[in-house]
Amino acid sequence: MLIDMHHHLIYGLDDGAQTFEETQKMLRAAHQQGVTHIITTPHGTPGREPFRLMEYLDRIEETKAWIRQEGLDIRIYPGCEIFYTEDTVRMLNEARIPTLAGTHYVLCEFGVEAPYEYLAGAARKLGVAGYHVIFAHVERYRCLRKFRNLLELHEDYEVLMQVNARTFLEPDGFMTRHWLRKAMDRELIDLAASDAHGVRSRNCRLGDCRKLMSREYGRDTADLLCEDLPRRILGKKNKI
Ligand SMILES: [Fe+2]
Repeated sequence: MLIDMHHHLIYGLDDGAQTFEETQKMLRAAHQQGVTHIITTPHGTPGREPFRLMEYLDRIEETKAWIRQEGLDIRIYPGCEIFYTEDTVRMLNEARIPTLAGTHYVLCEFGVEAPYEYLAGAARKLGVAGYHVIFAHVERYRCLRKFRNLLELHEDYEVLMQVNARTFLEPDGFMTRHWLRKAMDRELIDLAASDAHGVRSRNCRLGDCRKLMSREYGRDTADLLCEDLPRRILGKKNKI
């Protein structure tokens, strides 16, 4: 089982797949990487841009029908990569933007220069509202390069930290490589996901990532980040 919980598969909603044909190619590519479950996560910016929920859910059904027709062994679930704004909690409560796979987990992103206090405030507000928070591609945020900040969010706010597969495979420079190694050694990274946007430059390489992680950090760690923790997110609710 290989679960990709961050993937821009559904077409025509963001900068991920643009056509249904591209959605199909992305599914085949994910399948070749050994991915068995995908939570699709188009971008949403609550209160700033309308999130076309009905269109999204229709396209998920269209995609599921295609998967069945092709006999592809892959399951997909709705989700959203939420660019955190002050309207996020309200819109989640009103079910106008989706959580991950119908659970209480939410995937949030921020501007790369957002201050630590803003990230901590988001984690606190979402936590108080009853959501389990996952921060997307934490390697990008300048304030989380400080381990004290990463640790506090992880331990005190119980934020789960997701890193992109590509960062494991091709860290952009020595500093990122060093930071990632240290964060992994301190067990501050919880999830790896593809954040795939297409089949060319930002493609799904989660299977490759799992193999590399297995070599560099051990099989148990690779299983934990690519299967066990994502499975906990999908949970009993989705019966996987
Ligand atoms: Fe993303």
